[in-house]
Amino acid sequence: MATHNLLLLPGDGIGPEIMTEVKKVISWFNARGGDTFETDEGLAGGSAYDAHGQAISDGDMAKAMASDAVIFGAVGGPKWDSVPYDVRPEAGLLRLRKDMELFANLRPAICYPALADASSLKKEIIEGLDILILRELTGGVYFGEPKEITDLGNGQKRGVDTQVYDTYEIERIAKAAFELARTRDGKVTSMEKRNVMKSGVLWNEVVTATHKNGYEDIELEHMLADAGGMQLVRWPKQFDVIVTDNLFGDMLSDVAAMLTGSLGMLPSASLGAQDAKTGKRKALYEPVHGSAPDIAGTGAANPIAMIASFGMALRYSFELAAEADMLDKAIANALDKGLRTKDIALDGDKTITTVEMGNAIIAELD
Ligand code: NAI
Ligand code: MG
Repeated sequence: MATHNLLLLPGDGIGPEIMTEVKKVISWFNARGGDTFETDEGLAGGSAYDAHGQAISDGDMAKAMASDAVIFGAVGGPKWDSVPYDVRPEAGLLRLRKDMELFANLRPAICYPALADASSLKKEIIEGLDILILRELTGGVYFGEPKEITDLGNGQKRGVDTQVYDTYEIERIAKAAFELARTRDGKVTSMEKRNVMKSGVLWNEVVTATHKNGYEDIELEHMLADAGGMQLVRWPKQFDVIVTDNLFGDMLSDVAAMLTGSLGMLPSASLGAQDAKTGKRKALYEPVHGSAPDIAGTGAANPIAMIASFGMALRYSFELAAEADMLDKAIANALDKGLRTKDIALDGDKTITTVEMGNAIIAELD
């Protein structure tokens, strides 16, 4: 039986409120026996800036690097709108992603049966949906150089961003996709735009070569990213794992997420490379949503995205798939009973608070 070290970074706004509910879940698993979790807590975002003028301190950064997983709430808010750019709250999250080299961003799109009516799509299209978008997170057009606005001197300016991918970057995200597919339905769809982008041609080649190199048990399909967007909305259940670059992944994962419901329901994981010696990966788990300053302090925050993010830690960092399934089932059961925070309530539904939803999930675990 193993002990896992977690660094909790609640952050700002509703971050601390939803983190309180995750702590109950962690305590529940500790009391149950089996693997245990030791937690340490740090500051990130605006709260860290207020305390020491940095969006994350070097000390907390070192703790994050040494942890088995970081459980991150959300950062930011109007209070810090005017702080200098490189110490703004989001800089804390960006530093974590960069220093931990979290190149693989996992965004599941799962339809909870009780919420199938809340989607903008027909129920039969999304009922039972369970797909995973894998977005490359540390390369591509968001980071490529040159990246600049130049003055052309004739009253015109030129904005330039550069899409750059090297073989190793594509290979490691492709491997992650095949390995994830092996634990799921065994299918990977790779999306790029090889018809108009050189980086897309290379992406396609490297994914194909990686597939031939030990992953031929997985079904591999290639799709142009724009067609992929159409297919996601037309018939999302055709997919299992979708792997794509940083830019397409940003958009496609938002589209996929919204197939099934509210921001307050959406977890995510960001993983680094596997350590050759220990087999461990650096990892950060966080809800997709932000710090929701508009509802902070009102008890209206939905803690499910945060709790389901811890569920992803159980699955992807600690190989506790049975426990992750149990937690997902507890969430589904609470929803089946009609329990709703405000964000997922339809007209006329009675709503419960953040704390009540957390307690309901604990009751289902019991
Ligand atoms: P947001 O995700 O915080 O909120 C968007 C809307 O969704 C709001 O109406 C909010 O009340 C609602 N919402 C979000 N999470 C919810 C939850 N768990 N339960 C119920 N309702 C929820 O995005 P917004 O308003 O654009 O940004 C607010 C702040 O958060 C900004 O400072 C932004 O920079 C930051 N942010 C931080 C992120 C992070 O820490 N990873 C990600 C996105 C935004
Ligand atoms: Mg996005």
